[in-house]
Amino acid sequence: MNKILVTGGAGFIGANFVRHLLEHSDCTVTILDKLTYAGNKESLAGLPASRVKLVVGDIIDTELVDRLVAAHDTVVHFAAESHNDNSLREPTAFVRTNVVGTFELLEAVRKHGTRFHHISTDEVYGDLELEDSQRFTETTPYQPSSPYSATKASSDLLVRAWVRSFGINATLSNCSNNYGPYQHVEKFIPRQITNVLTGVRPKLYGSGTNVRDWIHVHDHSSAVQRILEAGEPGRTYLIGADGERNNLEVLRQILELMGRPRDEFDWISDRPGHDLRYAIDATPLRQELGWKPEFQDFSSGLERTIHWYATHRQWWEASKEITETQYAQQEQLVEGVKSS
Ligand code: NAD
Ligand code: DAU
Repeated sequence: MNKILVTGGAGFIGANFVRHLLEHSDCTVTILDKLTYAGNKESLAGLPASRVKLVVGDIIDTELVDRLVAAHDTVVHFAAESHNDNSLREPTAFVRTNVVGTFELLEAVRKHGTRFHHISTDEVYGDLELEDSQRFTETTPYQPSSPYSATKASSDLLVRAWVRSFGINATLSNCSNNYGPYQHVEKFIPRQITNVLTGVRPKLYGSGTNVRDWIHVHDHSSAVQRILEAGEPGRTYLIGADGERNNLEVLRQILELMGRPRDEFDWISDRPGHDLRYAIDATPLRQELGWKPEFQDFSSGLERTIHWYATHRQWWEASKEITETQYAQQEQLVEGVKSS
């Protein structure tokens, strides 16, 4: 694992992963990133030019992908359109990047015999009931709900087919909701933090009872590194850190940590098709590969994340305005689904 190509390395998880790799290995990294609205060169600021190179380009560019894959011994594929709300508004880019882009990478790794790791999401499994002890496992049937999760499920199935039919050396991971530094302000946690920081009322969809299984992005990075080191070819690993919380609880915790009244937010009409609950059973990753999360104290993780956004305003201020203008076109206030 000396020369690693990281697609989507200027995005939230990709940039955190590149930082993690540089700190925990002696590899060199090439990042292939289109720098869409979600990619930010500033997320790579301060990284050593001797070990990291950014190539601005598209994963659907066959020739570019072929050339870059040929020059590396491992590909870690993060690049994607990643936001559910955008996929409901305009799904085209999701099919193009998530499905066709993954296909282009698979063809290149097949040709050059390159090790491939595909980053995916727990959303491919659909959702679970709220009052239920069930969690997602490697064998849970695929049942994606949104255009985003359907395109991620499609990309997973392509990877599995390339493993089975062509014997490519690939692993997959499906992770739950990440939070931490460098996350785009369209996503739930940074949106609410930056709302408070800019004097805007936070926004909660539907009843606020939807559950997400939160994991700190640093734990996602260490899990992916462990899979690269010891993962079994062809296997899927689920990544999660037992962090189930409903959205209302998370929002109240942010408000409390930021010294605001617990009810100082707006109830918003629900996201169409809104998944109820995600929950990951990461037993195989823990028991077979010996991975364990290190950032499970959600309150201190949130506190550090709030501090990061408060001290990196120049990183997010320009996107904040654009993001909120878009949200304002689609969101409707609703009468309080009264809080308990
Ligand atoms: P992000 O939206 O923050 O970053 C995506 C990156 O991909 C951006 O830098 C963007 O410029 C780049 N990109 C988009 N289209 C591209 C293209 N055609 N060619 C090259 N680069 C392109 O996303 P994220 O939250 O960091 O998610 C990264 C990966 O992790 C995605 O595959 C996502 O499905 C998966 N994932 C995310 C989460 C989460 O909680 N955010 C959880 C599980 C899995
Ligand atoms: O589960 C993994 C997935 O987590 C990843 O695959 C996706 O890339 C990532 O975006 C995330 O998807 P979600 O749809 O769960 O994340 P989001 O941050 O958009 O929303 C989290 C929850 O918060 C969800 O139940 C919707 C709700 N929400 C979101 C926003 C933006 C609100 O209540 N208010 C908001 O303003």
